[in-house]
Amino acid sequence: MNKLISIFPLSIFKDSIALPEDYKQQLIRAIFEMEAETAEAAHAGDEAWLGDTRGFAFLFQKPLFEELYRRIAETIRAYIEALGLNNELLDFYFQRSWATITRKGEKIHEHCHAQSNLSCSYYLRKPPHSGGIQFTTQNHPNEFATGMFSSAKTDLGLIQQQGVHTCNAVVVEPAEGDIFVFPSKSLHGTVPSESGDARISISADITTMLRDSYGHETMMPHFSNWRRFDE
Ligand SMILES: [Fe+2]
Repeated sequence: MNKLISIFPLSIFKDSIALPEDYKQQLIRAIFEMEAETAEAAHAGDEAWLGDTRGFAFLFQKPLFEELYRRIAETIRAYIEALGLNNELLDFYFQRSWATITRKGEKIHEHCHAQSNLSCSYYLRKPPHSGGIQFTTQNHPNEFATGMFSSAKTDLGLIQQQGVHTCNAVVVEPAEGDIFVFPSKSLHGTVPSESGDARISISADITTMLRDSYGHETMMPHFSNWRRFDE
């Protein structure tokens, strides 16, 4: 009997963070206020409102968000454990974190967070049909001819069975309160929202460092050993 043995999968870690309703509403109000402050620059074309490019890239500095980042940090450590890695050897730093607001017809175009190690997306407000997150790869291990795994090849009948073995794009549907963690280098974007209610997600980029880099040839040494040019 033959079978496929799948190796080198991308793992997206999914968990949920249930926040008390009043706290959640405070966060939502604060994010809508950020959007209102930048109304003149908001919602260009079909792009969602992105807080990182509008002066709100460090939400973890705001006291109101402290509890949320405590919970996200717990989730990151759970992801590390789920992968079978040792949390004790690593330090984690939130380097950037911002909210996104997606209204009807809007989406977040495909991108990756190349300056970071781990990224996560928390769905603070996720109305039905407001768009899932789409992960894509330009280097699918099974794509033995360039361009083979495009949707056109499905329409043309080459791909008879669409699935993770034959697709270079996969949509994952989050529910409100879900959080996804993934390597920052993973290409991702969102499916356009069909909902009249705003979708709010909070993204975070996390840098990891070895607590002690003795014996390690790769990975970032701890910044406490670094020296700035002018110091
Ligand atoms: Fe992103």
